[in-house]
Amino acid sequence: MEKHWWHTATIYQIYPKSFMDSNGDGVGDLQGIISKLDYLEKLGITAIWLSPVYQSPMDDNGYDISDYEAIADIFGDMSDMEELIEQAHQRGIKIIMDLVVNHTSDEHAWFVEAKNNPHSEKRDFYIWRNEPNELVSTFSGSAWEFDEQSQQYYLHLFSKKQPDLNWENEVLRHKIYEMINFWVDKGIGGFRMDVIDLLGKLPDQLIKENGPKLHDYLKEMHQYTLAGKDLLTVGETWGATPEIAKRYSNPDEKELSMVFQFEHIGLQHKENRPKWEYIKELDVPALKMIFNKWQTELKLGEGWNSLFWNNHDLPRVLSIWGNTGEYREKSAKALAILLHLMRGTPYIYQGEEIGMTNYPFESLSELDDIESLNYAKEALDLGQSEAVIMDNIRMIGRDNARTPMQWNTEKNAGFSTSDETWLPVNPNFTLINVEEAVSNPNSIFYTYQKLVNLRKEKSWLIDADFELLETEDKVFAYRRYTDEESYLVVVNLSDEEQSFSIDVDYIEIIISNTDEAVIINNHCLAPWDAFCVKIR
Ligand code: GLC
Repeated sequence: MEKHWWHTATIYQIYPKSFMDSNGDGVGDLQGIISKLDYLEKLGITAIWLSPVYQSPMDDNGYDISDYEAIADIFGDMSDMEELIEQAHQRGIKIIMDLVVNHTSDEHAWFVEAKNNPHSEKRDFYIWRNEPNELVSTFSGSAWEFDEQSQQYYLHLFSKKQPDLNWENEVLRHKIYEMINFWVDKGIGGFRMDVIDLLGKLPDQLIKENGPKLHDYLKEMHQYTLAGKDLLTVGETWGATPEIAKRYSNPDEKELSMVFQFEHIGLQHKENRPKWEYIKELDVPALKMIFNKWQTELKLGEGWNSLFWNNHDLPRVLSIWGNTGEYREKSAKALAILLHLMRGTPYIYQGEEIGMTNYPFESLSELDDIESLNYAKEALDLGQSEAVIMDNIRMIGRDNARTPMQWNTEKNAGFSTSDETWLPVNPNFTLINVEEAVSNPNSIFYTYQKLVNLRKEKSWLIDADFELLETEDKVFAYRRYTDEESYLVVVNLSDEEQSFSIDVDYIEIIISNTDEAVIINNHCLAPWDAFCVKIR
């Protein structure tokens, strides 16, 4: 198998509005990110996935782009972006841009022209119909919006300010490829591709994901943009199965490096119910089956996994599956150890490395996210109580992951000097912040740092096979092995002691969040114990 830099990389996701504010307007920006590159270098990450920084009216915080080749004023300008790429490179860090090409903003020049002049070439860049059908938007309500001027409806699978692009139009596709090359020429390290599985949609047949032409488009995109360059590309694919993931990520297919699949995240929700109907208790046996399937089915050379607990659309993992009280640090380390020693490319979401948690939102007025606000409005109209709605948002709402990064114990956790920040700072910043984490050699930060370095140093993390071991329900144990070496990973995913009956004859402790005595006497695991040992 040909090895690429991203096989040994750990990626760090930055949500630009919330990372660091350099100019005191209460919103993070590119100069803010530049000022924190030394911190990221210390963590050891290989690349930053930057959520969108393009020009945008920010209806969906930048996932509604009005100019792909300009930077949003709130974040800075193109020279700041070039400086970020350059400064990051000097520290061995690549920049992965977020590529949002399923839709644009309704303020993008293409859509403005399409709307104003139904006879223009741009009209067919979008999807217009005389009658709406029952397709619904991810952000509540119909996916069709009526345009008075032309007396037609346009499709928007997200907000009405995010009209869907028509990938059947070849001229549009080549405009997108030109834009991709504009960024490749700037020296970026790759792309995270937003809702990429929607590109082949067939709205008349109510098909959104995995339309028949999806993979033709991705192969064409590869041919015109990525071919011959060693870029990391990761597609966001909510509905991927291992079979589908191989179509994207098998190197012979010439499409993408890897995809984000969300099957494990599916355990946070009731099956086939709205995402707001959450399940807090982690079904550990189900989690084991899911990871086992992905780890064994994406064989080396046939496909590649990405590994993540968090992103800007998900709750903070400690608040849903970890422990935010007594075992906060220990559960954070346990979850990290469990995930980062599997095969794939790990992603860390800003603040995960210091154990940040969900925000205690109390009222709708504290929220920003269009998805949560639309949901709340719809649910209130249906007569649901605000108490229930707020409970759901506190657990599942996307703003939980988006509150400002907690740097220190100063005003606004050191994120901004402004009197007001765009989202409130979590009041737990006095305890949970970067300054504290970096000064404490036993902090969650150093577990992440160690995992990031292991990924670079240990080739078995890429090559070794995966075997799930039989254990008590709440214990997740697996073996990674090659012809020459074998490693055991054991994690107690619960607040209770668990018995554990595998005899360990170990040579070396690779990483652990517990005492050596636990590993030797491994018949009883304390809450959230986790370790990896090299075994005979
Ligand atoms: C993806 C993004 C999400 C955004 C949506 C529409 O799911 O991760 O934040 O709202 O696409 O672009």
